[in-house]
Amino acid sequence: MRYRKLGQTGLNVSVVCQGTWSVATKDIFWDGQDKADSFKAIWAGLDAGVNFFDTAPAYGNGEAEEILGEALGKHRQEVVVATKVPPTDLVPEKLRLSCERSLRALRTDYIDLYQIHWPSKELPLEPAWRTLETLQREGKIRYFGVSNFGVSFLREAIPLGRIESNQLPYSLLWRAVEFEIQPLCVAHQIGILCYSPLAQGLLTGKFQTADEVPEKRARTRLFSSIRKMTRHGELGCEAETFAVFAEIQALARQQKMAMGHLALAWLLHQAGVTSVVVGARNAAQATDNATVADFELDDELVARLSQITEPVKQIIGHNADPWEHVSRMEKQ
Ligand SMILES: NC(=O)c1ccc[n+]([C@@H]2O[C@H](COP(=O)([O-])OP(=O)(O)OC[C@H]3O[C@@H](n4cnc5c(N)ncnc54)[C@H](OP(=O)(O)O)[C@@H]3O)[C@@H](O)[C@H]2O)c1
Repeated sequence: MRYRKLGQTGLNVSVVCQGTWSVATKDIFWDGQDKADSFKAIWAGLDAGVNFFDTAPAYGNGEAEEILGEALGKHRQEVVVATKVPPTDLVPEKLRLSCERSLRALRTDYIDLYQIHWPSKELPLEPAWRTLETLQREGKIRYFGVSNFGVSFLREAIPLGRIESNQLPYSLLWRAVEFEIQPLCVAHQIGILCYSPLAQGLLTGKFQTADEVPEKRARTRLFSSIRKMTRHGELGCEAETFAVFAEIQALARQQKMAMGHLALAWLLHQAGVTSVVVGARNAAQATDNATVADFELDDELVARLSQITEPVKQIIGHNADPWEHVSRMEKQ
């Protein structure tokens, strides 16, 4: 495993951060999860040197936090636990209650990285920020970061205080952050944590056509709004996505690399990226994902992957919100 400094903190985090959305057995977006596998996935991550775990109260309504807390057990002190406050809780009293709930679920008395899950267009940021600072002084959180903050929300947050990280949707098939958000994060030493780095499994090569992708994962703006669970109302770009997909797959074969490894390793070569936040539903996936820390790609291969995926980047454009037509990441 390799480790990188998180923002300007003293924390060294593994470049593979293990996500826990899909370990919740009751989450509406993931089916058929076995709780025993969830525990084994976390233990396998630990065994492979992962010291950075991401969760949120939103994942299975607190279940993912509970599973992570229980699975970590005596290893709690050895790892960096990142969780989130929902945007609806960005008022001082609710934020404090939300933090207390997460602490209980995680069986811990401190959260290493507390992230604002999504910005709020309704609630003012500054009072929430001051509450985060108070919680930090009280030792309940060590550092705080944001997630899904686009340029306008970042510009509002930057003068308020130190932001250590911005967790963003970023993968070979989702590069909208590169237009404006990534450069701003780089300029302010805000570490980028890439979520859905495998495009929810798509970039492992397990689905060859859009029709094979389970409905619950065919929700992003890559997919047509005829897909039942979409809410963006756009045409999507399924033909272009799967044309690019085929090219990535061919390149992976040529390189004798698993497609998923290539996709994760490419991200670890991008500016400002601290870690990929990759979900694992079982031990085999966790072990497999951890190996990408060892892959160095040469500049030519990184550039080739960027070139192949450029058409999808251009169609998706500046709106980095994977799921909605009007970006929830920007203030307007
Ligand atoms: N901040 C936010 O708003 C936000 C949003 C989304 C996610 N996240 C975080 O980011 C994490 C990762 O994102 P994600 O879960 O959406 O997508 P992802 O990491 O791109 O995909 C995870 C899924 O891919 C499959 N997979 C993983 N490793 C694999 C492997 N080695 N071989 C084959 N299949 C594999 C698994 O599902 P199957 O086995 O079922 O295919 C797994 O659940 C989440 O757990 C969460 O912590 C944050």
